[in-house]
Amino acid sequence: MLETLKKRRAIRNFLPQPVEREKIESLLEAATYAPNDRMREPWHFYVLQGDSLKRFEQVALDYLQERFPTKPNLVESSMKAVTNTPLIIVVTSAIVEGDEGATIDNTFAVSSAIMSMWLMAESLDLGMVWRTRGVGLVHDTALHKFIGATESERLIGTLCIGYPEEPITTEKKRTTFSEKTTWL
Ligand SMILES: Cc1cc2nc3c(=O)[nH]c(=O)nc-3n(C[C@H](O)[C@H](O)[C@H](O)COP(=O)(O)O)c2cc1C
Repeated sequence: MLETLKKRRAIRNFLPQPVEREKIESLLEAATYAPNDRMREPWHFYVLQGDSLKRFEQVALDYLQERFPTKPNLVESSMKAVTNTPLIIVVTSAIVEGDEGATIDNTFAVSSAIMSMWLMAESLDLGMVWRTRGVGLVHDTALHKFIGATESERLIGTLCIGYPEEPITTEKKRTTFSEKTTWL
């Protein structure tokens, strides 16, 4: 297990090859086995590929151009995250009206589900990155609106998925757990 966790990487460059429907369904199925408080199963998945992904390109472009009007190079390089990705899955978490604790717990459960998808992706020879910033658009209304999510859903992750262009060779750096742990 430790080796599997050490091997998991954020993959950002993909081949143009589409992801098979069967593999997409395996990712979604893996997500649903995540732990979740009181079995609220608070996740929802929006799958973007082909035409819908093409339409999302315009949403991302509009957002970037509005946000960085004087930085066309940044806009162009950021757009590659969308144009070079064959599959995007947006994952939302249910907001529990009047119960902030439950709403936060739901985001924890959805985060666990995303981690399951990430590990599942690697076992299917797929690469994945969980995006929130930039074209991840998790902290903006544009993507929420585009996918047609309801007022009671919060965006947690924009998962860019595909067959990796090349394996990652850079070392995975982490602070040792001993510096992050207090033994009481
Ligand atoms: C909540 C969350 C948000 C992230 N947002 C972004 C993002 O917006 N853009 C990006 O390129 N990577 C994003 N990442 C991926 C991290 O940058 C990546 O996991 C980190 O650099 C560690 O690399 P590793 O996953 O290969 O171990 C995000 C990861 C998490 C967990």
